[in-house]
Amino acid sequence: MVQEFNKVGVVGLGTMGAGIAEVFARAGFSVTGVEIDTDAVERGRGHIAASLGRARDKGKITQEEHDTILARIALTTDREDLGDADFVVEAVPERPDIKRDVFTDLDRICPPGTILATNTSSLSVTEIAALTDRPGLVVGLHFFNPAPVMKLVEVVSTPSTDPGTAAVAEEVAKRIGKTPVSVGDRAGFVANALLVPYINDAVSLYGRRLASREEIDAAASEGAGLPMGPLTLADLVGLDVCLAVMDVLWEEFRTPRYAAAPLLRRMVTAGMLGRKSGRGFYPYG
Ligand code: CAA
Repeated sequence: MVQEFNKVGVVGLGTMGAGIAEVFARAGFSVTGVEIDTDAVERGRGHIAASLGRARDKGKITQEEHDTILARIALTTDREDLGDADFVVEAVPERPDIKRDVFTDLDRICPPGTILATNTSSLSVTEIAALTDRPGLVVGLHFFNPAPVMKLVEVVSTPSTDPGTAAVAEEVAKRIGKTPVSVGDRAGFVANALLVPYINDAVSLYGRRLASREEIDAAASEGAGLPMGPLTLADLVGLDVCLAVMDVLWEEFRTPRYAAAPLLRRMVTAGMLGRKSGRGFYPYG
């Protein structure tokens, strides 16, 4: 069935959406990426071009492959262009009002059998599914940053997800070279429920001046063998995303373990979101 997919839609072309569009195009799918306006389309195009250009410059893909992959991606500001999409992944900002707007539109625009997947990391997939008249065809497809590199994809089933929908999502994940794990819809799913409290603990240590940012990061990377330290990782993921995950964990479980570090919240309020805003625990750009 997945082999017969002619068109995959990706809604939202920020860091995650652009990476997801690239991954599908690399696997041979025709992708239509949708953004809200032409500036956002151009930013998305820039993310994809930079990532593919880096892969070409490193000799991972040839110029011809680079051009072929790029040619598989059409970018638009018109959601109506998804009227013939077979599978859609939503990767718009983590705001309920934006998700509502997108899913209401997708439900109206896409053919009745089209699976609508969400890359949300902090909202309830069940609530997103309930925005549509096809909750059985709504599933979480949660990628990790950077999406072109990280192998894991969480396939999130809600109580209303049809088993066939989850099976197709797992098949899709495998087709694009990812390792799917099947999880239930609970705050943080599995990976973020483990990872984000760890990042939050690191922010608390830093906030209490127990060590410098470099020392905290070195403890994790050089002491525990992790690929990057927690403060560098927070900057990569986005401090707003980390805070949103902490807040849903808190809302759902109300245990001190899931209380967001005060410094994390203040940095988000101050607009220090990490790499994407040019400043987080470290400066960028
Ligand atoms: N986009 C595309 N490719 C990228 C990339 C990006 N943003 N960043 C790095 N890469 C590629 C590089 O091109 C390189 O590719 P090749 O091996 O083919 O040459 C490869 O990744 C390794 O990159 P580098 O050599 O530059 O650097 P590195 O070895 O330090 O790896 C890293 C970088 C992959 C990011 C690594 O540090 C890592 O795995 N970090 C942890 C990332 C992580 O934990 N992510 C999950 C965050 S949680 C999340 O995303 C979920 C959520 O909902 C919050």
